[in-house]
Amino acid sequence: MVQKRVSSEMNDNDLFSLAGKVAAVVGGGGVLAGEMAMGLARAGADIAILDYNPAGAEARATAIRALGRRALAVQVDATKKEDLGTALDRILAEFGRVDILVNAAGINSGTPFFEITEEEWHRILDVDLKSVFIACQIFGKAMVESGNGGSIINISSASSGPPLSKVFTYSVAKGGVNQITQFLAREFAPYRVRVNAILPGFFPAEQNRKLLTAERTQQILNHTPMNRFGESSELVGAAVYLASEKASSFVTGSILRVDGGYGAMTI
Ligand SMILES: NC(=O)c1ccc[n+]([C@@H]2O[C@H](COP(=O)([O-])OP(=O)(O)OC[C@H]3O[C@@H](n4cnc5c(N)ncnc54)[C@H](O)[C@@H]3O)[C@@H](O)[C@H]2O)c1
Repeated sequence: MVQKRVSSEMNDNDLFSLAGKVAAVVGGGGVLAGEMAMGLARAGADIAILDYNPAGAEARATAIRALGRRALAVQVDATKKEDLGTALDRILAEFGRVDILVNAAGINSGTPFFEITEEEWHRILDVDLKSVFIACQIFGKAMVESGNGGSIINISSASSGPPLSKVFTYSVAKGGVNQITQFLAREFAPYRVRVNAILPGFFPAEQNRKLLTAERTQQILNHTPMNRFGESSELVGAAVYLASEKASSFVTGSILRVDGGYGAMTI
């Protein structure tokens, strides 16, 4: 298959434009993906917010409409194939296309290893890993079949390896997210569907609020050369870059760290 390339004669002013594109943001009712959705909208994309929490999804969709973009809020359980299939149908009915998928549904737990139940193991792996697999099947197929290419952005974590203390199942799941990202980068490349991950360091949000005790906060900051947490707005540049078929046209299978140097730190 001959792959089409983006013209090298493009106007650099358009490098980060997402005008005419449609993004589905799974977990977009939450802190990090909500901010990324706003950034994609400011770059010109129309947005579907898919989240388990209907109030969070609707609030974010309302904020995006206030930016002058079209937005749709869809309640989904991202662990359920039928929910994501129905969401895709609604997006295609409303917007006619889907070009960008952000996979950011997430839950976490600090249960000590010997106390983790099978129920908790399955719940975390379902939300943090299986949802990425299902969304890549459903939305990836639509992108492959559209012939328009696309960009899938999975949200990994510093826990993806070497693993973080305390968050055992979450670390297993995020290691799997990296594998999905690189496997599908190979699989989808012939169709100009790029698959990358953003690997955030530490950002205060809902799913990690209870885990960020004073002691753990100090450990994290000691291990982060920039000596602070990230702010959710600091993920927007990475998301827009990876979403843009012009800015990141030759980028697939990459895992982009946004972590204040955490991943470069030893002692
Ligand atoms: N906050 C951090 O420091 C950090 C660091 C690395 C990676 N991450 C990842 O970023 C992503 C976003 O997390 P966040 O920190 O913004 O937390 P958050 O709790 O604010 O957002 C997570 C969102 O996922 C949604 N969700 C949970 N289960 C779902 C399901 N079954 N179906 C659909 N939606 C579901 C929640 O309703 C919520 O809106 C997650 O994948 C998380 O693992 C966060």
